[in-house]
Amino acid sequence: MKPGSNKKTDLTARKNRELTAILEVSKVLTTSFVLEKNLSSVMSTLGSYLDMQRGCVFLLDHISGELRIIAAHGLTKQSIEKGKYRIGEGIVGRVLEKRTPMVIPNIGKDPLFLNKTGSRPEKDGISFLSVPIEFKNKVLGVLSVDRIYSKKHGNVDDDLRVLKIVASLIAQFVKLWESYEEVEKEKDLLKRELKGKYSIDNIVGQSDRMQEVFEAVQRVAPSKANVILRGESGTGKELIAKAIYYMSPRSKGPFIKFNCASIPEGLLESELFGHEKGAFTGAISSRSGKFELAHKGTIFLDEIGDLPLTLQPKILRVLQEREFERVGSEKTIKVDVRIIAATSRNLESLVSHAKFREDLYYRLNVIPVLLPPLRERQEDIPVLIDYFLKRFNKDNKRGVTLDESAMRVFLDYDWPGNVRELENTIERLVVMSDSEKISASGLPVSLSIPRIKTSVKGTSLATDIEEIEKANILSALEKSGWVQARAAKLLSITPRQIGYKMKKYELESH
Ligand SMILES: Nc1ncnc2c1ncn2[C@@H]1O[C@H](COP(=O)(O)OP(=O)(O)O)[C@@H](O)[C@H]1O
Ligand SMILES: [Mg+2]
Repeated sequence: MKPGSNKKTDLTARKNRELTAILEVSKVLTTSFVLEKNLSSVMSTLGSYLDMQRGCVFLLDHISGELRIIAAHGLTKQSIEKGKYRIGEGIVGRVLEKRTPMVIPNIGKDPLFLNKTGSRPEKDGISFLSVPIEFKNKVLGVLSVDRIYSKKHGNVDDDLRVLKIVASLIAQFVKLWESYEEVEKEKDLLKRELKGKYSIDNIVGQSDRMQEVFEAVQRVAPSKANVILRGESGTGKELIAKAIYYMSPRSKGPFIKFNCASIPEGLLESELFGHEKGAFTGAISSRSGKFELAHKGTIFLDEIGDLPLTLQPKILRVLQEREFERVGSEKTIKVDVRIIAATSRNLESLVSHAKFREDLYYRLNVIPVLLPPLRERQEDIPVLIDYFLKRFNKDNKRGVTLDESAMRVFLDYDWPGNVRELENTIERLVVMSDSEKISASGLPVSLSIPRIKTSVKGTSLATDIEEIEKANILSALEKSGWVQARAAKLLSITPRQIGYKMKKYELESH
């Protein structure tokens, strides 16, 4: 055979090998979603097809700003550990910084070659090729390989071409992997939240009153209907709002929480509806409000009873038309949101005092869900205690239990702060108590003194009695949601009597 044709066969064989290598690389990249595993397969594929001695995939760690070896061929574990490069450091760093391939024909002669991994005692006779891994103009890392430097192994340009193709395949895989990881992380987070807190299974409540609440939640969750959650502070309104959200078809959309009582009146409108640049002093750029952010999702308007009168018409319009304008803008924005409102206030009394618009009240109150105060569902107390003890014992690696005397105190106490107060009390006990078995004497004194008596100032017997009577009436009114007839029944007096006493003690809900 003539030397010329021999050369041609060599060339064809090489081209074939290159193509096969690229094909193999693209195949192994789709075998799994495990980054290290796939990239290691890529490197060994390259090693076996292209006579490469060593190869490394470096990826940029976004947090530390360092290049890290993710996969390598022909390197020991220790070498991999050592092989971190900062941007601009060494050849690999240069390639990352300049975003152009680099070839060092004979690494023994190059001062830039740091040989950080210490894996090349025989520097002479080895060439080093390095190409950036890029995706849409963003550099993700560097791919580098060593090759025995000899004429018979073809030329460097061919190698470089193959490496560039491989680098772009790797880049696409890394991008895909990153988005996959993100989705998985979100799924995990959601699952954990669901299991940990918001699934209705983990909302504790044996009492008939809570069973009714759960039933209502099951019924309303699938629909788009607006719901209003009513009940004293700490009764679980927010928890229920989230449960409705998670159980609804909108659970994939956002859940935006907004507390109408938490922000000064002047800022409320722009927080809720957004503003245009220059709408008021300090509005240096335009900004979307909570309603826009909640598009396709659910907005939770907490403490809606505290919404100032001036803003109520705008909220009413969103409720009716699902539209509004940003502050300082004429453009009407349409949103698709489900509204869940909550309040601990006596809305009826607010309406009768002209502090809350009647039309808004009726719009909101289509589906009210009432969360009963804890003292009206005593049978839930032991289950809640159990639930919180388990949780806080686990968190704090303790084994705290309550004995019967302590349980008695918990049952007799009237929990003005409701489940939140119970939760905080249990947490404090688990964290602070010296012994693991807690009896009544080990409880905070405040739990043993019924709330009503604590307000006694003790001047004369007559005023003491009046104080106690006033406190009793107040407590009954709170328990019955300020429905006078119900409060009267609790106190075994007539509605007329309670009306008289309320006047005498100047009791009003607000
Ligand atoms: N039925 C319940 N089961 C378990 N935890 C509850 C229950 N009700 C309330 N909690 C807990 O009590 C605390 C107060 O509840 P939250 O929903 O914020 O009350 P509200 O919004 O009515 O003030 C939260 O930590 C919540 O997880
Ligand atoms: Mg709340």
